[in-house]
Amino acid sequence: MAEEADDRPWRSRMPPVVVPDAPERIHAELDRLSEIQAHREWVIEGLRAHVRNIEHDLELARHRVEELEKHAKNVELQLSGTRAHAENLAEQLAERVRRLAEVEEEARALEQRVRGRRSVRLATHGIFPKVANRSIDAIFALGNRIWSARPDLQRHYPQDHAADFWYWLLWDREGNPDLARVRLPIPDAHLRERVRGGGSEIEYVRSGLVDGWRVDGCLRQGGFDPAAGGALLDFGAGCARVAQYFALYAGRTRVHGCDVDAEAIRWCTDHLDFADFAAIAPAPPTSYGDAQFDAVYAYSVFSHLPEDLHLEWLAELRRITRPGGVVVLTVHGQHVVDEVLAGRALPHLRGPLAAREAALRDRGFAFLPYGALDLRQAGNLGFFESWDLERYGDTFVLEAFVRARWAELFEVVACIPAPDAWQDYVVLRTR
Ligand SMILES: C[S@@+](CC[C@H](N)C(=O)[O-])C[C@H]1O[C@@H](n2cnc3c(N)ncnc32)[C@H](O)[C@@H]1O
Repeated sequence: MAEEADDRPWRSRMPPVVVPDAPERIHAELDRLSEIQAHREWVIEGLRAHVRNIEHDLELARHRVEELEKHAKNVELQLSGTRAHAENLAEQLAERVRRLAEVEEEARALEQRVRGRRSVRLATHGIFPKVANRSIDAIFALGNRIWSARPDLQRHYPQDHAADFWYWLLWDREGNPDLARVRLPIPDAHLRERVRGGGSEIEYVRSGLVDGWRVDGCLRQGGFDPAAGGALLDFGAGCARVAQYFALYAGRTRVHGCDVDAEAIRWCTDHLDFADFAAIAPAPPTSYGDAQFDAVYAYSVFSHLPEDLHLEWLAELRRITRPGGVVVLTVHGQHVVDEVLAGRALPHLRGPLAAREAALRDRGFAFLPYGALDLRQAGNLGFFESWDLERYGDTFVLEAFVRARWAELFEVVACIPAPDAWQDYVVLRTR
């Protein structure tokens, strides 16, 4: 028989089994059995080696998984950092785009006004006589001197355009030591904070001039030219942040301002001579006569009143404005609602406003009294202490409400959605 040991590796393990005197057949059988045994051990050993290999591979795989998990965590961390960075950049970009739109709008308005208006003479006599060395005459005299010496200013602010020149005098004067010396009186920080919620002096001045400029445009849109004379009231003037703009027309237009904030009104009376200021009660009537004014405006007042008071004041404004006169009011409209609900503005209002969203959509009106809010997040805490915070808060008025309820009292000339990204402007005319 041919030897098979070469291709049967277990054969070397087979112990020779020798049974003396046993017949050949038994030896053959014993050989076969020991071969089966040897084969079995060989297979088992092979399997063990295989299992060891698998275990080794498994260990390697486990190790690799751990490394991959660590890597994934790192990537996740990097990703969230990158996401935050991208969100930040997107926010900055959106802010710049918003600002650009504002600047564009201002530039457009400026261009239109430069094109469309004839020469406006400045009537400054008698303005601010109480404030020594700070009269508007002195400011204009200095401004004119500087303007005459600077061709760049002459290009940007043609002298026949009084509003632009006024704007430059107050806006850009900080860069000029002469003008800085004779600047207009500016209220203390706590009064400024009540109407604007903080910010520097120059921001206060700028914001008032920009808002006043927009109100001016709306008054003209309604048919009242503040440069042409008449009686104008700033309702809820506070410390005259917006009214300061209308000092430009003092001497021709009789400017008035009123507010429930007696301290702010006292400051106005003590420091500003271009207008008559009066303190009023928190609810109508005022002591103004029927049809006393040709035009009334209220910036960011109807964005704070509850519905009943808001409608009562509307009726009072109609009473004191002559028939055919103009009323310009600003409100928090759809744009601010969207910003708040998206969490991009006034974050402390998001929850309370979301809870009233259905009613707001249905009626177009929502009032969130400050008494129901956590004012620690809103700032201005000291100021609100003495107020009835169930009757003052944040009010949202959608265009549908204006067209339904305000139209009962006034002709609605225009609803201008948030040109400053904050307040909608509503232009009304008395019938
Ligand atoms: C946000 S401030 C705006 C002030 C000013 N119009 C401005 O834009 O700078 C709201 C003004 O409404 C006045 N106000 C508060 N309650 C009022 C009420 N019941 N009736 C009339 N005005 C009120 C406040 O005193 C405050 O000056």
